[in-house]
Amino acid sequence: MKTAVYPGSFDPCTNGHLDVIKRASRLFDTLIVAVLINSSKQPSFSVEERVEMLKSVTKDMDNVKICSFSGLLADFMKNINSSIIIKGIRAVSDFEYEFQMALTNRTLNPELETLFLHTSQDYMFLSSSIVKEIAKYGGCLDGLVPDDLIPIIKSRFENADA
Ligand code: PNS
Repeated sequence: MKTAVYPGSFDPCTNGHLDVIKRASRLFDTLIVAVLINSSKQPSFSVEERVEMLKSVTKDMDNVKICSFSGLLADFMKNINSSIIIKGIRAVSDFEYEFQMALTNRTLNPELETLFLHTSQDYMFLSSSIVKEIAKYGGCLDGLVPDDLIPIIKSRFENADA
């Protein structure tokens, strides 16, 4: 049984994330989507909200599980006994940072392998930050995030100062 882990902030989950989740879930017996509890960053959505949003958009994917983690990813991987990390790469600009992370994780635990999935062409420009920027100014989120999440994301930014 091969289990892979797709870690991230998912603040919030975008259609780019969902695309990687769908494709990675076809490659492994189980895909764990692991939401980082990051104490040094102030996310727009609590970890519980991020987990709930991911659970709702993956409810029909039987081999996808959603959980949260804090601390080092390498330690989390050891705790759940998985050695495969999935990362999505949008452009060459993502690669340098992701390569650094992959090497760091392997230094911490030499058994870890990071597999990069290129993003689908439609989502090359897309990020959680872009989604939040659009939501802040009341722009249209159609096609950028799963439909069910649009009202949740919009309402979070409705009264925020632009
Ligand atoms: O969606 P993001 O913000 O690009 O995800 C980044 C994430 C969560 C994968 C990365 O920050 C991470 O693994 N954080 C956990 C701490 C850690 O292990 N850092 C790498 C070694 S310093």
